[in-house]
Amino acid sequence: MSKTLKLNNGRDMPVIGLGTYKGGKETAQAVKDAIDAGYRHFDCAWFYGNEADVGEGIREKIKEGVIKREDVFITSKLWCNFMAKDKVVPMCKKSLKEFQLDYLDLFLIHWPFAFKEDASYWPVGQCPEAFSDVDFTETWEGMEECVRQGLTKSIGISNFNSQQISRLLESAKIKPVCNQVECNPNVNQKKLIKFCAEKNIVIVGYCPLGRVENAGIPGYPYPTILDKHVLAIGQKYNKTPAQVVLNYLVSLGIAVIPKSITKSRIIENINIFDFKLDEEDVAYLDSLNKNDRICHFPEFQDHKNYPFNIEF
Ligand SMILES: NC(=O)c1ccc[n+]([C@@H]2O[C@H](COP(=O)([O-])OP(=O)(O)OC[C@H]3O[C@@H](n4cnc5c(N)ncnc54)[C@H](OP(=O)(O)O)[C@@H]3O)[C@@H](O)[C@H]2O)c1
Repeated sequence: MSKTLKLNNGRDMPVIGLGTYKGGKETAQAVKDAIDAGYRHFDCAWFYGNEADVGEGIREKIKEGVIKREDVFITSKLWCNFMAKDKVVPMCKKSLKEFQLDYLDLFLIHWPFAFKEDASYWPVGQCPEAFSDVDFTETWEGMEECVRQGLTKSIGISNFNSQQISRLLESAKIKPVCNQVECNPNVNQKKLIKFCAEKNIVIVGYCPLGRVENAGIPGYPYPTILDKHVLAIGQKYNKTPAQVVLNYLVSLGIAVIPKSITKSRIIENINIFDFKLDEEDVAYLDSLNKNDRICHFPEFQDHKNYPFNIEF
């Protein structure tokens, strides 16, 4: 099992990254613990509001001499209110200023749908008035400009479906290196992974642990790391359910970005490379797929660029 994925521009992406959404005050410490545990990939976004904390953790470890800037792969994402072409470079610079870094490794369009700039950032209750017509093909021109200006090494997309990817590829001058989408045994994305692989686009799987803190909340799929059979599989290899699920996902050829602010779990989630699941265990994990997403946001389903109205 490889620890990095080769991107279509020749760069390498570590397959395990630290998710940082809802990292809160613990973010900087979690980033430092992750670097000590061997993480070299950090998944961030302007929307998460903690890029300054991620940057603090990274800069401290650079100062300590543990890493150099070029050793770490840092992703940020452009939020939906800023998808007009002329907003993209300023938003990328804004994130860099928050991190206090000179460049990103990867900048993503966070969602294919755009909101009006003056709408709230999560405009539930303001739909469809908050929807903007700006198309992601226009946004992509701004993303390409970020590469030309040296603000980011690579660009990509997030939450795009197969039709949206095909449409983007028709006009893109620089190909997206990845599509970041929800991926865990409840929604294993095998069809989208295959479709993207044929186009040399890597999948980065978010919510790999099924956002376990939401377990039991009505409307949320039950996290598979709490499944009794997954626990039993783990006992067979002396591994935890989280390690079983992360190993399974990485074996699908994707990168994963589990979030944790707990040191022991941060360490646990990267120690997944020393075992191989038997066929019967893979078959069980495969059987859990039901295309059931945590992040499906039906409130935006009438947006022209809502991604989940087709199968994949
Ligand atoms: N592109 C997008 O639209 C998008 C959408 C959602 C998420 N993301 C990215 O993907 C990352 C991961 O997704 P997520 O944060 O939603 O969910 P997740 O990684 O599936 O789950 C995070 C939850 O699992 C807990 N946890 C971590 N390791 C564990 C372990 N070994 N055993 C038991 N529990 C464990 C964490 O708790 P503690 O932190 O308390 O340890 C936290 O409550 C995000 O942080 C973000 O960077 C991107």
